Amino acid sequence: MSDAHDLTGKTVIITGAARGLGAEAARQAVAAGANVVLTDVLDKEGEATAAELGERARFARHDVTSEADWRRVVELAVGEFGGVHGLVNNAGISTGQFLESESVEHFRKVVDINLTGVFIGMKSVIPAMKEAGGGSIVNISSAAGLMGLALTAGYGASKWGVRGLTKTGAVELGTARIRVNSVHPGMTYTPMTAQVGIEKGEGKYPNTPMGRVGEPHEIAGAMIFLLSDAASYVTGAELAVDGGWTAGPTVKYVMGQ
Ligand SMILES: NC(=O)c1ccc[n+]([C@@H]2O[C@H](COP(=O)([O-])OP(=O)(O)OC[C@H]3O[C@@H](n4cnc5c(N)ncnc54)[C@H](O)[C@@H]3O)[C@@H](O)[C@H]2O)c1
Repeated sequence: MSDAHDLTGKTVIITGAARGLGAEAARQAVAAGANVVLTDVLDKEGEATAAELGERARFARHDVTSEADWRRVVELAVGEFGGVHGLVNNAGISTGQFLESESVEHFRKVVDINLTGVFIGMKSVIPAMKEAGGGSIVNISSAAGLMGLALTAGYGASKWGVRGLTKTGAVELGTARIRVNSVHPGMTYTPMTAQVGIEKGEGKYPNTPMGRVGEPHEIAGAMIFLLSDAASYVTGAELAVDGGWTAGPTVKYVMGQ
């Protein structure tokens, strides 16, 4: 990793960091020198992940849909580490329903966590980032925020919303030196996808040009890049980290073999 990816002296809040992509981002951010506040609704797993990372990591119980929780998390970051320079809005839940069968209640819940939670997060860190002289917000959308995907009614809507909210943030906050970008993971092996039968390994996912699902460290690397000064002129961008999934249909699909 070049010096430009160094996060020494920066404090980063990462939501949904008890496990999966958020936990891996926290590991890589600490390894790059950052102080990290890991947040989640899973207390036991969150405490354990933070404990693994040592002195420069803290865990806070945090429901991303609660403004009061966001205030506490920002206060904790400022109180413990002196400021906020980065935010990774990673917490999320998925949908596995056809549009026709998704309940209105579940649709609202998904949008509340995946989109409204990102909005409250952005709003909550802006004053502290301005105080710090700038910052980087990384919003985790999805390949389902770049294309239409079956079985993602509320999820797809929330992830397209995250992509749009990212652009609004980028255009409003550029002169405050706050960069806002979205990351769009493809199918990646985490607890979220393991539960629906996704498998790791070459050839196990032929829908994607690279023929396999991603691994958490491959997505977290993109988050670290966007948090770091290596991305100092990158804002309003949407970074697909998906093995080519959103580039277009695979040969197998086109040729039917
Ligand atoms: N794994 C994939 O294939 C994939 C693909 C595209 C996008 N993503 C996105 O990446 C992000 C992380 O996904 P993951 O695969 O690591 O899933 P995961 O389920 O392993 O982790 C998500 C974390 O978010 C937490 N969370 C859920 N609701 C919360 C709330 N209200 N407040 C705070 N935390 C909450 C969960 O407890 C969990 O620890 C999500 O936004 C997801 O939509 C994942």
